[in-house]
Amino acid sequence: MIGAATRRGLLALAIPGCATAQPGMVTPPAAPGGGLHARAAAKGLAFGAATSTRQMAEPDLMAAFLADCGLLVAEYEMKWAELEPQPGNRRTRRADQLFDFARRNGMAVRGHTLLWHESEPRWLSDLSARGTAAAMAQHVDATVLCWRGQVTTWDVVNEAVAPEDGRPDFLRRTWLLNRIGPDYLPQAFHIARAADPNARLAYNDFGCEHATAWSRRRRLGVLGLLRGLRQAGAPVQVLGMQAHLQAGQPFEASEWRAFLADVAALGLTIEVTELDVNCRALPAAAGPRDAAAADLVRRFLDATLEEPAVRAVVTWGLTDRHSWIREGRLPEHRRRDTARARPLPYDDAMRRKPIWAAIAAALDAAPPRG
Ligand code: G3I
Repeated sequence: MIGAATRRGLLALAIPGCATAQPGMVTPPAAPGGGLHARAAAKGLAFGAATSTRQMAEPDLMAAFLADCGLLVAEYEMKWAELEPQPGNRRTRRADQLFDFARRNGMAVRGHTLLWHESEPRWLSDLSARGTAAAMAQHVDATVLCWRGQVTTWDVVNEAVAPEDGRPDFLRRTWLLNRIGPDYLPQAFHIARAADPNARLAYNDFGCEHATAWSRRRRLGVLGLLRGLRQAGAPVQVLGMQAHLQAGQPFEASEWRAFLADVAALGLTIEVTELDVNCRALPAAAGPRDAAAADLVRRFLDATLEEPAVRAVVTWGLTDRHSWIREGRLPEHRRRDTARARPLPYDDAMRRKPIWAAIAAALDAAPPRG
């Protein structure tokens, strides 16, 4: 096992521009039983996390990333609004830094995400229906071609289901849907397949995990969308379930497993793609809050990993320090007290938390994949 100083030295080599470790920065001691990806790989699974070029400048975070992750996903650098802020003016420098880091460290890369209504460039809304269709096709083709052979799974479409929008097919009334119609969905998958014959192609969504009427409607919408894609002959192979879990909401393992079995019956594999825990509903005290979050993660992952079609677990970040939940953009993230969100496996000082142990235990208990 290499010592912390050596690891920091190696880290500085692995990450160009990575600041040398500051005194007092915690490099996590080696985890007894191995890091999370080693535990996952022992069962034929993958474990990884979202990160960003900004986070790559933090040696303690990157040391944990190297210790625990076998794959990475860009938190925002590979989205349309970031790649093409002006039409035709594509920029991949930041995303390329993440690919370089992954390549240097033998990590896989999940592509996130080609089409998402929250990350479309502003200029798209200036286009006609025909112009929108051409721009979408050009973006999907150019982006998949750019990293052809370097992405294991592409989130081709993200969050296209919104029962509250009132359509009988539960599709979200996005700009692309309004301009092109529901056919934008299979079109995107066909264009991505033509650009990279080997990447696995995923539909990714959120809010399906809990035993609530809201989640049940979302699951119906997701299943309907997947069945529609399959009937249209679209090359969808993976369902990405974001798993932004909500502490305090009910979770029924049998109900969740039945949904996963329905997805697997369509011939798809499944990836947990953005796991974290919103603990807004829990009291402020960190100890009980961390324990409750870890219990929910363990119950969720135990049920999820029983499904043989599940192949990867990805958290939406590694450390509470950078969690999107702390930005408080969503009302359901805003606590009434001043306690800060603690949704991820490591705390601000890069100490492992009960969530880390819950993920490790669930991976160790998971049935091996064929
Ligand atoms: O755009 C600037 C960039 O120019 C600047 O140099 C960089 C350096 O700080 O920051 C960039 O700012 C923001 C970026 O996060 C970094 O914080 C972007 O404006 C902002 O849009 C971006 O937000 C991301 C958001 O998706 C939209 O892309 C969040 O980090 C990310 O956590 C969030 O992730 C989404 C998933 O993709 C889909 N599922 C839900 C999840 C949470 O909303």
